Amino acid sequence: MTLKIVRNILDLRKETAKWRAEGLASAVVPTMGALHAGHITLVREGLKHADRVVTTIFVNPKQFAAHEDLGRYPRTETSDIAQLEEAGTHLVFAPPPDVVYPPGFVTSVILAGPAKAGLEDKFRPHFFDGVATVVAKLFTQTQADFAMFGEKDYQQLMVVTRMARDLDLPIKVVGVPTVREESGLALSSRNAYLSKAEHHQAAALYQTLTQAARKIRAGQAPSRATAAARRALTTLGFRVDYVAARNAETLALPKDKDEPLRLLVAAWLGKTRLIDNVAV
Ligand code: PAF
Repeated sequence: MTLKIVRNILDLRKETAKWRAEGLASAVVPTMGALHAGHITLVREGLKHADRVVTTIFVNPKQFAAHEDLGRYPRTETSDIAQLEEAGTHLVFAPPPDVVYPPGFVTSVILAGPAKAGLEDKFRPHFFDGVATVVAKLFTQTQADFAMFGEKDYQQLMVVTRMARDLDLPIKVVGVPTVREESGLALSSRNAYLSKAEHHQAAALYQTLTQAARKIRAGQAPSRATAAARRALTTLGFRVDYVAARNAETLALPKDKDEPLRLLVAAWLGKTRLIDNVAV
């Protein structure tokens, strides 16, 4: 079967309506393209949950601030489509911006809870409004039963999960573990911006996080472990936005000794901002 590519909502709905008429379950993998093995893992996980997978490719302008990298964000549609075909995606939805945001578009989703945890939202205040708006649209456009999101963008995963629950969207958000290089560096489309030396250096992010998680598990106070991780990363040449231990679901500050925690980090190497997280 050749992979179908659709660029407007009518064509998308025609395809997904056929699946529903046949009683087939579907999963959506929302992406901004520039696909790597992490995205392909999302497709493969989607195929485990559903009979059909639709992957969306849309570089969402609403989640970039004016000073961010919208213009230089990697766009690699031909190779993305080849990888998706190989991975077994059934349909690609790659709309142009005016299909997603037609003239007169004014609506957005107002978020709180994990979207206001003082993590990504503190450094990219517009980001989750843009993500939630496009994801809510992609969920209703595709009418998928499952949505596959990587744990790499952990705050995004919690925000989208909460939003789907709060808005009673008939879709199950599935979190998929981060795919890493052998060094531990999480795969990310933004790794393409790293120089060879920075790429090598970047592995320290995961190593520092796992070390801090180990210390917390061994009884060290999360605030002490994260402060040490911040110092270590700074010494290694990172400019740290945050290293934080948070409740694994709400992303609130930890209150209870036994609550499940997640350690999250965002740090710059040169001109590249990297994020990562691990379970404690
Ligand atoms: O994680 C991403 O690539 C994007 O934030 C998403 C979920 C595709 C929304 O634009």
